[in-house]
Amino acid sequence: MTTKTSMHIDPYERTWMIVSFVMLIIFFTAVSVAGFAMGIQLPGPDRRVDPKTVASDPDSPWHPDNVGLRELSPGKYDAYILASQTQGWRFFPNEITVPAGSTVTFYVTSQDLIHGFKLENTNVNMMVIPGQVSKLTVTLKSAGEYNFICHEYCGTGHAIMFGKVIVTP
Ligand code: CUA
Repeated sequence: MTTKTSMHIDPYERTWMIVSFVMLIIFFTAVSVAGFAMGIQLPGPDRRVDPKTVASDPDSPWHPDNVGLRELSPGKYDAYILASQTQGWRFFPNEITVPAGSTVTFYVTSQDLIHGFKLENTNVNMMVIPGQVSKLTVTLKSAGEYNFICHEYCGTGHAIMFGKVIVTP
């Protein structure tokens, strides 16, 4: 006679253990595909800035003379955008133009309070926090106009706080 010691697991419990394990594998695969194959990223803080001087320091990329697009190489851009309540609920600049197929990295910060930055029909959707630079990269494949809006309530002018990215063919 052989003595076999095995743990007794109720069939229902066994089923649920298998289901949980399969779900973990599905989630892990989904996150990996989204992150590595589809390029979906989380918006991350890029650096710290002083909101009091971010729009007035002549060396700041968010100074009125410096905001906007920089072409790093053909089809590759950085876009420095300032969100402002104190200057009348506006984004500076509130319009940028790039050719279709461009990859644009947005660097957005606020000089006063919390704003939002959502670019329609893309996965660019981030909070804009004073003192912090929110960064996200997107490739704009098809031509058209992509509106961006502030989606964090920031006062009476919140609804007029928008702009657009024009993607030319
Ligand atoms: Cu800025 Cu709402």
